This record gives sequence, C-alpha cells and structure tokens, in this order.
Amino acid sequence: MSYQSEYQRAIREPEAFWQEKAAELPWFRQPQTILSTDANGMQRWFADGQMNTAYMALDWHVEQGRGEQTAIIYDSPVSNQKKQISYASLLKQVALFAGVLKAQGVEKGDRVVIYMPMVPEALVAMLAVARLGAIHSVVFGGFAPHELALRIEDAEPKVVVSASCGIEVNKVIEYKPMLDAAIERSSYKPLRCIILEREQAPVQLSSERDLDWHEAMAKATPADCVPVAGTDPLYILYTSGTTGKPKGVVRDNGGHAVALNYSMQSIYNMQPGEVFWAASDVGWVVGHSYIVYGPLLAGCTTLLYEGKPVRTPDAGAFWRVVQEYGVKVLFAAPTAFRAIKKEDPEATKLERYNIGKLRAIFMAGERLDPPTYDWVVKHTGKPVIDHWWQTETGWAICANPTGIEDMPPKPGSSTLPVPGFDVQVLDGNGQPMPDGQQGAIAIKLPLPPGCLPTIWGNHERFQAGYLRDYPGYYCSGDGGYKDKDGYVFIMGRTDDVINVAGHRLSTGEMEEILAAHAAVAECSVIGIHDELKGQVPIGLVLLKDGVEIEESRLQEELVAMVRSEIGPIACFQRAVVVQRLPKTRSGKILRKLLRQIADGQEYAVPSTIDDPASLSEIESLMQSQGVVKAS
Ligand code: COA
Ligand code: AMP
Repeated sequence: MSYQSEYQRAIREPEAFWQEKAAELPWFRQPQTILSTDANGMQRWFADGQMNTAYMALDWHVEQGRGEQTAIIYDSPVSNQKKQISYASLLKQVALFAGVLKAQGVEKGDRVVIYMPMVPEALVAMLAVARLGAIHSVVFGGFAPHELALRIEDAEPKVVVSASCGIEVNKVIEYKPMLDAAIERSSYKPLRCIILEREQAPVQLSSERDLDWHEAMAKATPADCVPVAGTDPLYILYTSGTTGKPKGVVRDNGGHAVALNYSMQSIYNMQPGEVFWAASDVGWVVGHSYIVYGPLLAGCTTLLYEGKPVRTPDAGAFWRVVQEYGVKVLFAAPTAFRAIKKEDPEATKLERYNIGKLRAIFMAGERLDPPTYDWVVKHTGKPVIDHWWQTETGWAICANPTGIEDMPPKPGSSTLPVPGFDVQVLDGNGQPMPDGQQGAIAIKLPLPPGCLPTIWGNHERFQAGYLRDYPGYYCSGDGGYKDKDGYVFIMGRTDDVINVAGHRLSTGEMEEILAAHAAVAECSVIGIHDELKGQVPIGLVLLKDGVEIEESRLQEELVAMVRSEIGPIACFQRAVVVQRLPKTRSGKILRKLLRQIADGQEYAVPSTIDDPASLSEIESLMQSQGVVKAS
C-alpha cells in the first residue's frame, strides 16, 4: 500500500474508508450511518454505532487473552516507584472505581473533573468515567486554582477526582489546598471530591464533600460498561484560546476510538504488545491520546513516566527508560530534547544505555527546530519524525505515515497530510496559495473522525473561532506553506496563542491579568524566542498617568500575579515599561507587528497606524533590553 493511494482513497471515499477502519474495533453495534449531520449542522461520524471506549481499551483485550500483558508501566523517579499493571488488573481497578463514581450518582453524560499528577490512578479515573458513559475533563496539575475554577465552572462536574499532591523536581506540590481554593472561587460546586492520598503529602479530609480514594475503593462494587452512541462525548479538554476563558474542546467516543486506533498503525506503526512512550502529561491532549487511549485501544503497553527529561536525576533519564522497558516508539516535545542537549551536549549519558529496541522518535507540541532535529538524529541514529497537531484534532494532521509508507523526511517540515485531512494553504480571501508561499493553514470539511465537533456549551464560539473565516474549512490558527511535493511546513500561530515548553498558553489571558494591576493602564503580552522553551511571554506595559512605581517592583508583582492566576508553567518572568504601544487609529494594539518586531522579522508599517513613531521607539527599546531575537 502506498501513502498516495491511501490518502486519495480517504479523500475520495471517506465513508467507505472510515467504515473499514471502524470495523477493526469491537463495537456493541457496528455503525451503519458513517457520516451524518447533527443539530448544529456539523458533520458527525458513526452516529448510530453503539460502543464503550473503556470496553474497547480494556475488557475486549482481556476477552481476547491479553489479560496478563502489561497495560501500564509506571516509572516515577520523583517518588522512587516502579510498577507494572496488567490489562486484567487495570480492568479490575477501573470497574471498581467506576463503582465508586456510580455510588456517588455519576451517570451517562455527567461530567467528572480529574486534577491529578502522573500516577496510574489518573488513568484509572479517566477510564472509569468512560466506562460509565460519563465525560471526563482532566486539568493539568501545573495549573493554579483560578484556572481549575474556570474549568469547574464551565464543565459543572458532579465529582472532582484529585490527589493530595504532585511531585516536581525536589518539591512537593500540594493539590488539596489548590482544589479547595478553586471550588471556593467557582460559583458551581461539585457534590463530591475523591482524593487519592500520597505518602508525600498526607491530608486531613474534614469536609463532608471529601472522600478518600482508598477507603471508597475498599467498599466499592464493580460497575459494568454503559453503551454510548458514537457521537456521545467522551471528554472535554480545555485549551487556550485568544481570551481569558479557555475553550472546552469536546471529543466524541466513536470517531476518537477509530482515529486513534488507525493512527497507532498508520503513523506510529505499533503492534499489539509493543511499548509506546509519550513523555507528556495526562493533562494535555498528547497525554489523553497517547498515554491513555491510543496505546490501550491498540493493545500496546503504555509508559507513564512521572519525571522530567533532566534533573530526575540527570540528562540520561530518557535513555534509561527506553532501555529498561524496551520502548519501541518515544513521543516527546522538542523542548525536552533541548533540555537534554543543554545539560549533556555530547550525549555522553546516552553511551551508558542500549536503545537498540527504539524504532523512532516522534516530536510535536511546537515546531521541531532543525538544530534539535540534527542533534537527536546525530546522537541516537534513529528516525526523528516531526508531526503537527492540536488539541482540537486529537491526532496528527501532518506526519510521516511510517505504518503506511516511510516518506523521505525534510528538515523543518512535519511531512505530509495524514489520510483524512485535506490540508490547504489559503490567502486572506480563502483562495489557495501557490506552492512555497505562506498563508493560513486550513482543513477542508468534513474533518476526519476524532476531531472536535463543538466547544462545550458554546457552539457559537466554535463557529466563530474555527469555521467563519473560511467557509467550508476549519481554520487551524497556524500559518505555513506547502512545497511542490506537498510537504507541509508549519511556521507558527497566526493568533495570540504561544507555546511555552510545549505548553499552549494565551497571551490574551495574561494581558487580562496584567491589566488588573493598579499601576497598569494598558499592556500587550507577546511570545519571544527562548533557547530552551521555544517561546516565553513578555509583557509590554504602559503605566497610568501620574503613577510612580519602581520598574523592578512592578515586574515582581506582575510575575507573582501571573504565577498565582495561571501557574508557574506560564514562565512569565519579564515586564518592560513602555511609553506608547503601537495602535491603529481605532485604538487596537498592533499585536502582530509587536510579534514580528520581537522575532526580528521584516514588517510592513500598516496604513492604519495611529503613531508610526511608536514602532521605532518600541523596536529600539526591545533591542536595548535584549528582547529582540538575533536574526
Ligand atoms: N505541577 C506543578 N508545577 C509544575 C508542573 C506540574 N505538573 N509542571 C511544571 N511545573 C512548574 C515547575 O515546577 C516550574 O516551577 P518553578 O518556576 O517554581 O521552578 C514551572 O512550572 C516551569 O516548569 P517547566 O516549564 O517544566 O520548566 P522546567 O525548567 O522545570 O523544565 C523542561 C524545563 C524543558 C525540562 C520541561 O518544561 C519539560 O519537560 N518540557 C516538556 C513539556 C511537555 O512534555 N509538554 C507536553 C507537550 S507534548
Ligand atoms: P496543543 O493544542 O497544545 O497541542 O497546541 C497546538 C499548537 O502547537 C499548534 O496549533 C501549533 O501551533 C503547535 N504545534 C504542535 N505541533 C507542532 C509541530 N509539529 N510543528 C509546529 N507547531 C506545532
């Protein structure tokens, strides 16, 4: 089978193509209606199929005789623990925890927020929610109470599942006080919080609302799988948009299972029983798709690593794990390898380990910069594959489809559109751009299975954010170009979203936080280049007239505000006081221009600018402060 024939078939005969892929999974009732239109006018996959994602990922494998195979390898250098859990044992725990949730009244369609570190119980909780046909919403453990509160408020969960703590390098992060603070802030209150106590941080559960995980499990009776329709939601995952309110990306059950199962074969070329390691976090989409659902749907062993690429204990950590468990495919963000390269430039730590079983290294989350690509290829000798995707799609839009045909890589490109994704580069009027010229990257509708059908509780936001700019297309928010061979090059976001160490963050949200400071009249937050993290945010701040404050004190206060509202992962460490911000005559800050200046790019002065001198003023300020990226 060639990539071209597979790709063309998926575009020409999408229904036949995806029906065939769906038939590889154990549905309770195979779908007959492959593509149909929902009440919002969106095209949806597998509406009349009956299924349960947790059944497909666990029960079915046990029924097929895979019960003794390891489902999860848990390796936690931060807590000094290693554990292997078989499919049979995982199924038992999931059914029991589903019983715990059911006893708390959780039913099909109810939401459960999961705020947990990288421990097996996080996966147990997710799969247990899926087993009941309920909807989980996992919140990354690095988010502060304000962010958690926004998600609780929007998802309205009956139950929140959390732990007493997460563990970072040399520090214990207590979750319970953050959870309590988030519930305090939210006008919506969950009925119950189930808390997993870890020995690193014992907790006193004093509130009537709280339940101890272990005690509840000891008393529980297992619950069965609840059948759901292919179009019923499996989860909501919040991601940063351009405003302070995160967007709840909805994932349905049927399309998700079909897409992930297909991706495990066609992109990652994984066979049942092999070890897959996504070095991410369950709080991100990579974690949802490739720590939890993808590997388990495909009957693989998934690796859950609670540690960092460096400092746990050193820059050899990734190589140690790959050797110890015979990892076949490693998936990580480029920033992780930049961190390893920084601490061990000659990769001397790699010499201690045998990574012979490793077949390929996949990267995503941000652009794979050519120096990092070259370094990893040179030192590992393995194929290094950049692939491009988003929380919204749930799986790769462009990749090297190694399970179909190994395509020759081109540095800087995430290779070719994955079968099912009709990727186009459009100009401002929605017309296709010639090869080699940059434009907005859009995907022709219908999106393939697995992609979001809506934003939780706000379909209008989905339409306005993704569908309105280019009728008939989904607008990705990324810009880039295709070359004459159809290879796609992603050049960066076209909106106010930035990527810090592979974490997607909204500059708009940070601006709202800075603007709340008593001394700040106006501000703009932009992402600037960072050697390790790809981008870091910087605030350009205009003071209110007559306010006197030391710049260093203002910076300290602003840094503390972002840390306490979003969390330390925002890596907001710098604010520069400016005299003017470049604006249009109608008063809009020219953010794109600021981004271009900070990136050291050529820029055209728009005719709508109010005060052209403000541009050169900002540019020289950024240069004198060392903010502008060296070209
Ligand atoms: N819970 C609580 N705090 C967290 C956290 C979590 N899950 N994750 C990160 N933080 C904190 C860190 O402790 C740090 O706090 P500090 O400012 O008090 O020191 C801060 O957030 C910034 O963390 P991070 O961005 O991770 O920086 P780092 O310098 O500690 O590590 C890397 C740098 C590159 C090693 C790290 O960012 C990394 O491993 N990145 C890979 C990211 C990834 O996998 N992304 C998923 C996309 S696929
Ligand atoms: P997230 O939704 O957190 O997965 O972030 C998605 C965004 O990360 C995309 O819209 C891109 O801007 C960026 N991104 C992810 N993967 C890549 C990649 N391989 N190359 C370039 N940008 C990427």
